Amino acid sequence: MRLEEHLAGCESDLKELVLRIGEVSKTISKGFASRQSHSDTHNVYGEQQMALDKWADEVLIADLRDSGIVRHLASEEQPDIIEFENATGNLGVVLDPLDGSSLIGVNLAVGTIVGIYRGNVLAPGREMVSAMYVLYGPLTTLTYTVKKGVHEFVLDDDGQFVLQEENIRISDGKIYAPGALRKNYLEGHLKWIEALEAEGYKIRFSGSFVADVHQILHKGGVFTYPGFVGKEQGKLRLLFEANPMGFIVTEAGGATSNGKVDLLSIQPNAVSQRVPIYIGGKKEIEMIEKLNSEV
Ligand code: F6P
Ligand code: MN
Repeated sequence: MRLEEHLAGCESDLKELVLRIGEVSKTISKGFASRQSHSDTHNVYGEQQMALDKWADEVLIADLRDSGIVRHLASEEQPDIIEFENATGNLGVVLDPLDGSSLIGVNLAVGTIVGIYRGNVLAPGREMVSAMYVLYGPLTTLTYTVKKGVHEFVLDDDGQFVLQEENIRISDGKIYAPGALRKNYLEGHLKWIEALEAEGYKIRFSGSFVADVHQILHKGGVFTYPGFVGKEQGKLRLLFEANPMGFIVTEAGGATSNGKVDLLSIQPNAVSQRVPIYIGGKKEIEMIEKLNSEV
């Protein structure tokens, strides 16, 4: 089944948006080889942008502006929320145009992450109406939810997104993907990591958040980029990374947390807000919240 048919029962503006992002992702997937260099600019987080980060950002923003259905847009590569004043629709989009882009040079999987709101994007993640990501690996896959299950499509040899797996439920597996340096772990986090290791969890951390969470979704376990000594809010971004991926994993029967509360319940106070991230199975998320409540 093709993506367009799968979206048949969905609200028309959401359907159009998911399809549009799918089309743009096909363009992005063909543009990697010639844009591997670093640019001379940094984003608001002080990270050096790749030519690809800027290009993916530009093509996505241009398309969403043209769509007329998106009014508010926040991108990880932009300092402020953009408002398209000529829009007739009122969708709000949060965007990490190319997550994991520093891995392009070593040919590991990277992805585009998108969260969709009705209206304002500076809202708790649980107010999202849809979230999706495209993973550019050996396969290009598109995973989406409109709160009716989580579904994955693969770009086939004819350039069409066709159904690969419907109603994905997070598995019960023993993988952990831990960011940050162990010597800087905070107390509750260290206890939790030690508990996972004692239970035989295997480490899998590529440095591409979207790819690492995708693996957890399929194989079970947990991804974390915690707060740590000197950076208690961690590295990753609430709006662009944590919320959309956390929303998808939660829809698939998992959970997400900042180590204390559900990430999706947090009211953001800035577009650039960072947050400690835990995304994965319910039991791993319950365990970190319990251990943190005891320290
Ligand atoms: O977008 C930031 C990011 O590249 C994520 O994709 C990834 O999980 C993380 O940073 C890796 O950070 P580090 O290089 O500190 O392990
Ligand atoms: Mn990112």
